[in-house]
Amino acid sequence: WAEDNYRLWLRYERVTEPALYNNYRQSVKQLIFPAGSPTLKVAKTELQNALGQMLSLQPAEANTVTANGTLVIGTPQTSTLIAQHRQELNTIRREGYFIKNTQQNGKVTITIGANTDVGVLYGVFNFLKLLQTHSSLNHLALIDQPKIQCRILNHWDNLDRTVERGYAGSSLWKWHKLPGYIDRRYIDYARANASIGINATVVNNVNANALSLTTDYITKAAALAKAFRPYGIKLFLSIRFSAPVEIGGLKTADPLDAGVQKWWKDKADEIYRYIPDFGGFLVKANSEGQPGPQTYGRNHAEGANMLADALKPHGGIVMWRAFVYDDKVPDDRAKQAYNEFKPLDGQFHSNVIVQVKNGAIDFQPREPFHPLFGAMPKTPVMMEFQITQEYLGFSTHLVYLGQLFKETLASDTYAHGKGSTVAKVIDGQLDHQPLTGMAGVANIGSDVNWCGHPFAQANWYAFGRLAWNPEQSPNTIADDWLRMTFTNDAAFVNPVKQMMMDSREITVNYMTPLGLHHIMGRDAHYGPGPWVAQAGRPDWTAVYYHKADSAGVGFERSSRGSNAVAQYFPEVRNQLENVQTTPEKFLLWFHHVSWNYAMPSGRNLWQEMVHRYYSGVDSVRNMQKTWSLMQGKIDNERFAEVKDLLAIQEQEAEWWRNSCVLYFQHFSKMPIPAGYEKPD
Ligand code: GCU
Repeated sequence: WAEDNYRLWLRYERVTEPALYNNYRQSVKQLIFPAGSPTLKVAKTELQNALGQMLSLQPAEANTVTANGTLVIGTPQTSTLIAQHRQELNTIRREGYFIKNTQQNGKVTITIGANTDVGVLYGVFNFLKLLQTHSSLNHLALIDQPKIQCRILNHWDNLDRTVERGYAGSSLWKWHKLPGYIDRRYIDYARANASIGINATVVNNVNANALSLTTDYITKAAALAKAFRPYGIKLFLSIRFSAPVEIGGLKTADPLDAGVQKWWKDKADEIYRYIPDFGGFLVKANSEGQPGPQTYGRNHAEGANMLADALKPHGGIVMWRAFVYDDKVPDDRAKQAYNEFKPLDGQFHSNVIVQVKNGAIDFQPREPFHPLFGAMPKTPVMMEFQITQEYLGFSTHLVYLGQLFKETLASDTYAHGKGSTVAKVIDGQLDHQPLTGMAGVANIGSDVNWCGHPFAQANWYAFGRLAWNPEQSPNTIADDWLRMTFTNDAAFVNPVKQMMMDSREITVNYMTPLGLHHIMGRDAHYGPGPWVAQAGRPDWTAVYYHKADSAGVGFERSSRGSNAVAQYFPEVRNQLENVQTTPEKFLLWFHHVSWNYAMPSGRNLWQEMVHRYYSGVDSVRNMQKTWSLMQGKIDNERFAEVKDLLAIQEQEAEWWRNSCVLYFQHFSKMPIPAGYEKPD
C-alpha cells in the first residue's frame, strides 16, 4: 500500500489495452537522446524507467533515425535534428518545449525539443503524461511554455521538523542529517514538482527562525539545493528580519543602518558562495508578531529594498508578503494590507515582488479576490495560495482546490477595464511586469502518501498546473490527475471527477455559505466556532466577522459600513456596494443582511442559510454514494482509505451544520423549516 500512495501521479502503470500498448510500443522503438548534463540525465532516466514500466520496453539508442518510431529529444546544443525546428524554438522561451510528429530520413519520429535542458525535462514529463492519460500520439503539435516565471512552494516547516498548519506528518527536511545524508524523498519531491512545472521552493517557515541563516544551516540548505538543481528547482529561504541582532550580534535591525545593510550584504554573499543559484528571500514582516522595518519606524518598501540590494548583485529576489494586520489599527482587518501597501506602489526596487494572499482575510473556504490585485501597477505582485487545507478540513476532508484557485484567478479586477483578471495581473500581462510568481503553501509532509489525504495530492498537482498556466481548466487538470493517479477507466474518472469538481462548493456550503467567514474553532482552525470570542483581540474572534444579531447577519463592508468595497475598482465596487447586485456567494462578506431578506430562491435569508448547511451535508452523503460505487475499480487500500475519510467528513459536515444552524438560530429566532432533520 505504501507504494500506491507514495508514487503520486508518477505511477507509470502498465498500459493494458492491447491496441494502445502496441501502438505506443511502435512509436518509441528507437531513442536519440544525447544526455550529458545532470538535467538531461534525469530526464532520460525518467523516460527510460517510465517506458519500462508502462510498455515493458527499452528503446534502442541511436545517433541517426533509421527506423519508424524514433523519439528524438534534446536542445539545439545537443542535437542538430532539434536545431532544425527554428520556428518552434523561436516561439518558446527558456522553459518551454515542443512535442511534434515529424519525418526524418523518411521515417516517422516524435520530436521533443526545447532551448534549454530544463525545457527538455518538462517536455519529457509532458510526453509521459500523454502516455499515462492514454492520449493519441498521432498529430502531435504541442508547444507549451509557462506563463508565470516563479512557480514556488512555500513550506511552513520549522527547523525541529514540525510543520505549521501541516497535516501530513512532519517536515520532509531532515536537518539533523543534512548536509551529509540526502534522503531519497528529496529526489522524488523534486521529480514530482518538475513534472508539473514547479521551479522553486522555500524550505522554511515564514515565521522564520534566525538560525536558518547561520553557516551551519546554509550548508544544509546548500545540500538540498544541490539535490533539487537537476530538476530545475531553485531554493529560497524565509528570513527573520531581526536576524542581524539574533545571530549577528548587532544592536539593531534597522534597514537604514549602515551596519545592518552590510550584515545582509555579507550574508547574501556567503549564501551565494554555497548556493550559486540561490533564489532569494521570502519575508513575513510586521505581521502576527514578527519583527520588521516598522519596528524601527521604517516602512515595508525600506525593509524590502535593503534586502533586495543585498541580493541584487547575485540575481536574487525578495518576496515580500502583504499579509499584515494589526489589532491596534481600529479598522476592518480586510482593509489593512491594501491601506499599507497601495501607497508604496512604485517605491520597491526592481527585484522585489509583493506576495499577496488570494483574499484579504486568510485562506477562507471562499473569499473575494484581494483588492491589491491590479491596485499596484508599478510593483510586481504575486499570488499566494494555500494548498494545505488549514481552513478546509485539514487532510481529512476531500476538497479539490483547483476550483478555489481558478475562481480567484478568473476574477475580474477591472483594473484596466473588463477582462483585467487576477490571472493577467499575476502573469504580468496587465501592467507589463517583468517579474512574476505564484506561491502555494505546501501540503506536503513525511506521510507515506505525502499529503495526508489521497485526494490532497490533487491540490499540489493543480497548484503546479495553474502556476504554469493560470488559464487552464480545473476540469482538465482533475481529469489528468485521476487518470495518472488512479486509472483511465471512464467509469471511474467521470463520476469521481464530478465529485472533485463539486467538492469545494459542498465544503463552502457546510462550513461558510453565502459569504460567511472566519467562524472556525479558535487556534486549531478545525471544526466550527461561530461563537468564538477572544478578549482584547476582536480581529481573532468569529463574532467580529459574522456580526450576527437579532436584525441579521454579515459584515457591512459597503460605504454604510467599513467601506472595504472602496478598495476595488469602480465596476466591482458598485456591484458590491449594493446588496441586490452582490453575488450571493459573497453576500454576508459585504453586507449585514436582515434574516427576512428575500433571496432569489424565494427563501428568506435564514431559510437559505439553513438550506445551504443541509445541502452541504446531503452532498457529502452523495459523495459517499458515488465513491462506494468505485469499489473494485481501483486498489482496495486507497478505496477503503477514501471511504473512511469520507465517513469522517460526513460526520464533521454534520457537526458544522448543526453547530452553525443552532448558533445562528439563537439570533434569527426562526424555526428550522419543515422537512429538515433535527440538528442536535
Ligand atoms: C495564518 C496561519 C498562520 C500563518 C499565517 C501567515 O494566520 O494561521 O499559521 O503563520 O497565516 O500566513 O503568515
